[in-house]
Amino acid sequence: MQFENYNYKNKNLFCEEVNLREIALKVGTPFYVYSKKSLKNRYKEFSKSFKSIDHKIFYAVKANSNLNIIKLFYEFGAGLDVNSGGELYRALKIGANPKNILFTGVGKTEDEILTGLRHDIFLFKAESFQEIELMNKLAKQESKKARIAIRVNPNVDPKTHPYITTGLYESKFGIDQASAIEAFKLASKLSNLEVIGIDMHIGSQITDISAFQEAIEIIVQLIGELNNIGINLTHLDIGGGLGVQYNSQSTPSASDFANAILPLLNKTNCKIFFEPGRYLTADSGALVSKVLFTKNHRDKKFLIVDAAVNDLLRPAFYKAYHHILPLKDETSKKITYDIVGPVCETGDFFALDREMNELHPNDFIAVMSVGAYGYCMSSNYNSRRRVPEIIVDKDKFYIATIRESFEDLIKNEKIIDELFVN
Ligand code: LLP
Repeated sequence: MQFENYNYKNKNLFCEEVNLREIALKVGTPFYVYSKKSLKNRYKEFSKSFKSIDHKIFYAVKANSNLNIIKLFYEFGAGLDVNSGGELYRALKIGANPKNILFTGVGKTEDEILTGLRHDIFLFKAESFQEIELMNKLAKQESKKARIAIRVNPNVDPKTHPYITTGLYESKFGIDQASAIEAFKLASKLSNLEVIGIDMHIGSQITDISAFQEAIEIIVQLIGELNNIGINLTHLDIGGGLGVQYNSQSTPSASDFANAILPLLNKTNCKIFFEPGRYLTADSGALVSKVLFTKNHRDKKFLIVDAAVNDLLRPAFYKAYHHILPLKDETSKKITYDIVGPVCETGDFFALDREMNELHPNDFIAVMSVGAYGYCMSSNYNSRRRVPEIIVDKDKFYIATIRESFEDLIKNEKIIDELFVN
């Protein structure tokens, strides 16, 4: 399998023009690294695929919320899709104009809605009747009109992992299709709301484009029905969800995606919004880790590395497959390993029964395609410090996030002396 912008030169794995081993020796391991070129290429490719329609891409900040990555996409021309007060804070921190921000989420708090209203963000997406009422009430309180879109759950199976399936009735997201018209009628009667759009997001890591087609057809039909009752929408947000290639199975590109859905999108006059996250960031990133030990339990061979499940949750949480490459490709001897971390959980693995080059203590590996839902889902479990994030630009690398200190781990805790008097 080929990795854009990650290549071997003289048997050393490079990200763009930087030898990853050089970063490992300077910064220590583990660390995340991202290729700026990959982020830019993916954004341009996605945008170019839809150049024939009036559209805007809102980068889904949750996929990788590093300030620099958000800022890069913003500078490439994207708006930002945020899912919490924290993501909104990050978007504003990089200087994004609130007119380029969408606020998503099935459970926004009053404070989050108020913050969005006070900054006059472009669009809130409402996911329940109660949220529609609440948005109206808070907008009135602030003497504002909130622009909203209603997220509809079209009950379409995106055929992806159940934990990232969001467009079926049994998942908590959106307003079910059968109640959608009623929700739009309610919202359009409320005086402090301006209902401009309809929204869907059926899941993530979707590789079967027919699921998008099925859902878009339902939504486009709804736009027509709403039009017939005098509710004229100007924006259609089809969410994110386009998958990437994690294993050897081939996956659709942005242009395959565009060719499949453009004929359907062309049936409306709405401006189209997209919220990709993974497609833009996953392939840009690698997690570099050092081999601490190798050991055998009879026939079973373990590679114990210094990164762990707290640094990258995806293999444990979704049984996700990630390619793993040695930083030095200098042997033809292959061994089948379980590649595991130091955390005291059997779920702490990056790969099971994986055939790899033979490796030894102090060798380095790179877990590939981790630029989406990697660092941003990491934790401090086992009191492990969060790792650095590095961005490579041609022959230079920059530390975008420093490694946490032990002091950082306890900075919000205090010892309560009264507890220890008796
Ligand atoms: N819009 C909404 C409303 C979303 O909920 C999501 C992702 C996106 C856009 C971006 O979807 P993408 O293009 O990245 O598929 N942690 C999981 C993925 C969770 C996705 C959550 N929602 C993973 O590691 O696979």
